[in-house]
Amino acid sequence: MAAAATSHLVSSPACRRHRRTLTNHRLSQNPVARIPVAPLKGAAAGPLKRLQLRAAVSQNTAVDQQATAFKHCFSKSRDGFLYCEDVKVEDVMESVERRPFYLYSKRQITRNVEAYREALEGLEGAVIGYAIKANNNLKILEHLRGLGCGAVLVSGNELRLALRAGFDPTRCIFNGNGKLLEDLVLAAQAGVFVNVDSEFDLENIVAAARIAGKKVNVLLRINPDVDPQVHPYVATGNKNSKFGIRNEKLQWFLDAVKSHPNELKLVGAHCHLGSTITKVDIFRDAAALMVNYIDLIREQGFEVNYLNIGGGLGIDYYHTGAVLPMPRDLIDTVRELVLSRNLKLIIEPGRSLIANTCCLVNRVTGVKTNGTKNFIVIDGSMAELIRPSLYDAYQVNKHNNIICSLSYKIDL
Ligand SMILES: Cc1ncc(COP(=O)(O)O)c(C=O)c1O
Repeated sequence: MAAAATSHLVSSPACRRHRRTLTNHRLSQNPVARIPVAPLKGAAAGPLKRLQLRAAVSQNTAVDQQATAFKHCFSKSRDGFLYCEDVKVEDVMESVERRPFYLYSKRQITRNVEAYREALEGLEGAVIGYAIKANNNLKILEHLRGLGCGAVLVSGNELRLALRAGFDPTRCIFNGNGKLLEDLVLAAQAGVFVNVDSEFDLENIVAAARIAGKKVNVLLRINPDVDPQVHPYVATGNKNSKFGIRNEKLQWFLDAVKSHPNELKLVGAHCHLGSTITKVDIFRDAAALMVNYIDLIREQGFEVNYLNIGGGLGIDYYHTGAVLPMPRDLIDTVRELVLSRNLKLIIEPGRSLIANTCCLVNRVTGVKTNGTKNFIVIDGSMAELIRPSLYDAYQVNKHNNIICSLSYKIDL
């Protein structure tokens, strides 16, 4: 459900200027610098070539984050009630057919996309690929498609949903380390980009291309081994991650792609570091490594034009006025690298496009006590929002005569 509303925004306190100097320690996390390329197995032909990393992690990564106040679409008004933009949430509660319900601000979604779009100005051909796992509500997908977003998919059903929402397949990327053959066939037929995640994934993509009778545009998802400095559960681009190809096996994959010219066209490289990232210089570290992989790939005759740096921008979970990087901070930190190689940038934001646009609206059913503790009982439960009860995930609650949780509909 998307609420129509006009602007009524609360801003966090003005952001501090934030500077951070990168130390050298991350250099040691990149195994390409010291591990020889694994010998080829299986994939045909091509001279065995030792890949050497010519990029160090970024030397000068001090990032001047924009002093842009973070915007919220939910606010407590002077009358004491919660508003979404200028719509009183209680009025919406009275008018809906069923409760509890999720209330979204369409305007906030638009503002979030615009922040990325403006940040990407000057980067021709850039794609904002919305990571559908963040929220797969069809109305929201249609709205994001209408705003020009592409879609990032991790299952056949997400792919079907994206096609139903009308996303341009050439702006969609099929990700994941367990893609099924039948879903890859659909991806090949639809003409979406597919990320290669492993040796068996590559085999399945080749098989899917043959079944569909279509060449698949692929990106190599390379594990850059950069530590995103986030909770281990959402760190996906370090050496122990289950995602992506080991960067020291890049040559093996290049030879494998070369040996399937009728099935595969290599168009770019991808990485995704993790989620809830609040230090954007980490993206620069990854991009510095990635553009050097792209140099190596191009040297071997591949015409790769896309650099996909994934998603992961942190959000204001706690509403404490924390200094948070904005889309412009993220894009500015990789801009020069992207331009220096004449690349088209793909980004894959999920939660940073949707999390601050939504609340779960519950009505208080009654209040009870066990003698020592009082309980406010509401009409919502873990069926609507499982994360807090499942693993103690943090939620912001706003009270008037309603309880409201700024929430993420689907767990990442
Ligand atoms: C490959 C990939 N891209 C994008 C995302 C979206 O990340 P976020 O919601 O942190 O922006 C994820 C999240 O898991 C992901 O795995």
